[in-house]
Amino acid sequence: MKVVQGRAGAGANARVKYLTDTLVKHLHAFIKEARPTQDEWIKGIQFLTRTGQACSAWRQEFILLSDVLGVSMLVESLNHETFSGETESTVLGPFHVPDAPRYGFGDNICLDGKGEPVWVFGRVKDIKGRPIAGATLDVWQANADGYYDVQQRGALPDMNLRGVFTTDAEGRWGFRSAYPRFYPIPNDGPVGDLLGALDRNPNRPAHIHFMVSAPGFQTLVTHIFAPDCPWLTDDAVFGVKESLIADFREVDDPVRAAALKLPNPFREVEWDFVMART
Ligand code: BEZ
Ligand code: FE
Repeated sequence: MKVVQGRAGAGANARVKYLTDTLVKHLHAFIKEARPTQDEWIKGIQFLTRTGQACSAWRQEFILLSDVLGVSMLVESLNHETFSGETESTVLGPFHVPDAPRYGFGDNICLDGKGEPVWVFGRVKDIKGRPIAGATLDVWQANADGYYDVQQRGALPDMNLRGVFTTDAEGRWGFRSAYPRFYPIPNDGPVGDLLGALDRNPNRPAHIHFMVSAPGFQTLVTHIFAPDCPWLTDDAVFGVKESLIADFREVDDPVRAAALKLPNPFREVEWDFVMART
């Protein structure tokens, strides 16, 4: 290990050297402990090769590997160690699309018309409870069958169940959507093979993604989770945090349904995002 670390020259980038030295230290310790055979070593190389080959403009198999090994959430947690009352963050995942359509308060993002209607609304505030006007909420979720639009191009409307909203002067935002459903992470590639070999669940519990940003505040990447999902305690990517489980209450109120332009009955979830300053 020391021989490998000692090969770096005087011009080495200090941070790259530190990260590489630490990786070599733990990689050598792993090999000494696990003692793979030559055949297992080449199988490992082939697995990583297939992981790279599965990557494309639409698919990031290495991030998926990081997700299912718990590495993405570990990096996320270590980078959000100090907590002063802001909403907790969780994994970004591979299905965010830049430049989703901009919508106004109360608009409907469910373009495929499937699933149970939901009114999703709340406020964006700072840690002292003051509203943040002009905050941007980028929202995305899977449909009632468990698919993101990008997984079923052509079959689902483009930009189904995604949109960008801006908070009003009181920090308010709101949109109409569909009750989210659990879904398997893309498991037709090498990461899926690994989960299969480990007899592991590939499902993510039902959730809605949010990326909330505002000038002067740390961008918040998070989800809200449906409370009744069977996979809440067995998320394939370890993204669930207790504080992110929301109450999607059932509402039977024809007058409110009409005012919100929703069929009755419907569900609603009220959720305030609390942001930390930069
Ligand atoms: C997601 O929630 O979209 C996701 C996160 C990590 C891996 C796969 C999917
Ligand atoms: Fe997701």
